[in-house]
Amino acid sequence: MASTNTSPEILEQVAAIASRWKGRPDMLIPVLHEVQAVAHNSIPKDVAKVVSYEMGIPIAQIYSVQTFYSFFSKEKRGKVLIRLCKTAPCHVKGTKEVLEAFESALGIKAGQTTSDGAFTLETCECIGACDVSPAVLIDDTVYGNLTPEKVDELILTISQMEVDES
Ligand code: FES
Repeated sequence: MASTNTSPEILEQVAAIASRWKGRPDMLIPVLHEVQAVAHNSIPKDVAKVVSYEMGIPIAQIYSVQTFYSFFSKEKRGKVLIRLCKTAPCHVKGTKEVLEAFESALGIKAGQTTSDGAFTLETCECIGACDVSPAVLIDDTVYGNLTPEKVDELILTISQMEVDES
């Protein structure tokens, strides 16, 4: 299980989100989406416990959703989550080369997080952007028609957006 060192401020935000849906297990997935966004792209054990308590849902149910949907991670992720589609339509249009460009630009392999905690790089199944394959989901935004040459500029743009937001 992931380490459990989420800050009290984030746990408070998680509690506020989850408590709005007490007794509504049907809202678990939307809640986990919202919670993961405030908890730096992951739902570690301490966050899952707060969701469980506030919604009145067994923690086992939360773990089972996390296990089923790869989008919900128990492991700590970077501030920016990069998920590159590896499903066939993207794959045939060059996902492998684009992934190598991301790995080279970030200095990590797929499944890893940069040492400064800024970026996590993952591959995933179809993100519904097949018409612009190969495509990547960076946090909540889709970027398509990727080429290895576009990767450096994309990372630069994302980094700049992060600086502007902070
Ligand atoms: S196959 Fe990659 S977005 Fe659909």
